[in-house]
Amino acid sequence: MKAAYIEKVGPSKNIIFGDLPKPKPNDSQVLVKVAAVAVNPVDTYIRAGTVEMDLPMPFILGCDLAGVVEEVGEKAKRFKVGDRVWCSNQGLLGRQGTYAEYAAVEECWLYPTPEEVSDNDAAALAMVGITAHLGVFRNGGVKMGDTLLVNGGTGGVGACAVQMGRTIGARVFATAGTSEKVKRCRKLGAAASVSYKGSGFDGAIRKFAPEGIDVWFETRRDPDFKQIVEHLAPGGRIILMAGREATPEFPVGPFYTKDCRMFGFAMFNTPAQEQRKCAAEINRWMARERLKANIDRVMPLEKAAAAHKLQEQNTLRGAGTLAGKIVLTP
Ligand SMILES: NC(=O)c1ccc[n+]([C@@H]2O[C@H](COP(=O)([O-])OP(=O)(O)OC[C@H]3O[C@@H](n4cnc5c(N)ncnc54)[C@H](OP(=O)(O)O)[C@@H]3O)[C@@H](O)[C@H]2O)c1
Repeated sequence: MKAAYIEKVGPSKNIIFGDLPKPKPNDSQVLVKVAAVAVNPVDTYIRAGTVEMDLPMPFILGCDLAGVVEEVGEKAKRFKVGDRVWCSNQGLLGRQGTYAEYAAVEECWLYPTPEEVSDNDAAALAMVGITAHLGVFRNGGVKMGDTLLVNGGTGGVGACAVQMGRTIGARVFATAGTSEKVKRCRKLGAAASVSYKGSGFDGAIRKFAPEGIDVWFETRRDPDFKQIVEHLAPGGRIILMAGREATPEFPVGPFYTKDCRMFGFAMFNTPAQEQRKCAAEINRWMARERLKANIDRVMPLEKAAAAHKLQEQNTLRGAGTLAGKIVLTP
């Protein structure tokens, strides 16, 4: 089969597009004929070696996929040949990835794709959807009427967090780096949005939430805690899920005297059973178009190296040339 893989970690030019043996599903695995995969920032960190993981070499990149069940292992019970499925969490913790024509996936990580949802959309919403769901609901405890601020409202995770907040009736405030993306935040469901670059940022938040922000979902890699804590309501929560190397200053006094809390998490630590509950809700929302994929572009899998370069320029260097997910199709 064709696959995009590496033989050693390093720059995006290390990605080889070539032939590897088609995997055989064993026991509780399911063989999926891949129709679409999403590019996530973590794919680039793993490829670069900046996030160290056990990598079975040659290592196929990628965490997310959507496709059709082609074969099931002897002990796999949840799916049958022909079912449409999606998943995340591959290419992590020693598992092979998804950037290939076929992937053998433990059935516990697979979810049915709703009839109404395309493979591109299901793949594009996989990791970012589960991450946003865990952050907004498990950690943030966001409920109807709460104020939710999403810093980076058109990014992969941010666009999902905005839509999820809107769907359950929270008041969402979102930020973005260009006026076009600021408008896009509103289309995604933010009640108000503003540029994170302008001087109007702080004033706009105060106007939106005079009592403060209940949950601040931070997607940037270098959080400004002075700003965040200043805007939190009493009992407010900060969701942190990016910036491994960041060591920002932290305003201790204003944080604890307002009874605030902060939750950090990496979605891949979450057990499959818990992720499945997120996936079930994501499926319901995708089917009813309450949660729409935010795809910037679709590229052929053979362009995986170019896709990684583009993702890195944006996530790591703030190029601002992407407004959503890159989807690759084998
Ligand atoms: N912990 C986990 O489980 C987990 C899971 C998924 C992702 N992540 C991490 O979370 C981060 C976001 O992931 P993603 O897939 O959403 O990445 P992404 O699509 O590249 O989005 C990055 C977002 O950050 C925004 N941003 C950049 N500079 C900013 C600033 N100064 N202030 C406010 N926002 C700023 C961007 O806004 P503009 O485009 O408008 O500039 C964009 O919305 C990445 O670092 C990723 O590695 C963690």
